[in-house]
Amino acid sequence: MADANAGAAPETAGGELAEAGLRWEVDGAVATVTLNRPERRNAMTFATWRGLAEIGRSLPEGVRVVVLRGAGPSFSAGIDLSMFSGEGGEGFADGSDAAATDRFIAELQEGYTWLRRPDIVTVAAVHGHAIGGGFQLALACDIRVAADDVKFCMKEPALGLVPDLTGTKPLVEIVGIGRALELCLTARTVHAEEAARLGLAEIVVPRDGLDAAVEELVASLLAVNPGAAVATKRLLWEAAENTLEEQCAAERREQTGRLRDLFGK
Ligand code: CAA
Repeated sequence: MADANAGAAPETAGGELAEAGLRWEVDGAVATVTLNRPERRNAMTFATWRGLAEIGRSLPEGVRVVVLRGAGPSFSAGIDLSMFSGEGGEGFADGSDAAATDRFIAELQEGYTWLRRPDIVTVAAVHGHAIGGGFQLALACDIRVAADDVKFCMKEPALGLVPDLTGTKPLVEIVGIGRALELCLTARTVHAEEAARLGLAEIVVPRDGLDAAVEELVASLLAVNPGAAVATKRLLWEAAENTLEEQCAAERREQTGRLRDLFGK
């Protein structure tokens, strides 16, 4: 991991990330990643997803919260559609070599999977459109704060594809299989009120209050004991997979660690 570099992204992550439509800053324990191609509604290229993975690998030690946001009118319009015509889509795997395509997609998914790491809490600040890969990026985060102009849409099936950037699992976990099927196979848009009702956004605020709401949430997250935050995130993410017995054992294990840290000699 790179050294902490308050207020700036580590050097290693500079120019290439800008080209990939990404900007990031680190301020103490908070890293902010901005999807930064507003003129393309933050449409994402393969380089964007590789860049996100690189940010995950370069996060300075001591970062506890990562905020993802979008510049301009939208969070993200999903994949840059020019990727399908081959423009700028270097390394595009067309499926004819199954193993190569599997490796290609796995590499892109790495841009999303690090957001579940237990040592950080990830917050998506979502406004405007969050389509396809953009919706999946919000789903990859632990907590979604949405503006009241949010428009979530899982567009992939309408384009003949499946959502493959880690979004199907959180979507089903959040809304259930029936609603997930309905949303994906109609590719319809979910607006703020419904997003809050379905649990796709934990917090919904007026558009001009989004930054303040995220700041307030981040301050609350940082107020919690860091070790307890890590252990609790690990525990909660395990809960869905574990039996009650396994989860009880996991609680005992994590609490033993907490007690040792707090009171052990
Ligand atoms: N790829 C490339 N360019 C895009 C884009 C995208 N996904 N989305 C928007 N843009 C471009 C537009 O072409 C336009 O460019 P010009 O100014 O040169 O004409 C510019 O961004 C602004 O877009 P609009 O004028 O359309 O802006 P809007 O506010 O009226 O509409 C929008 C915004 C609803 C997002 C609309 O642009 C749109 O529908 N975009 C396409 C969304 C889409 O289908 N994304 C793919 C999702 S599937 C996916 O993501 C698959 C995956 O991960 C594997």
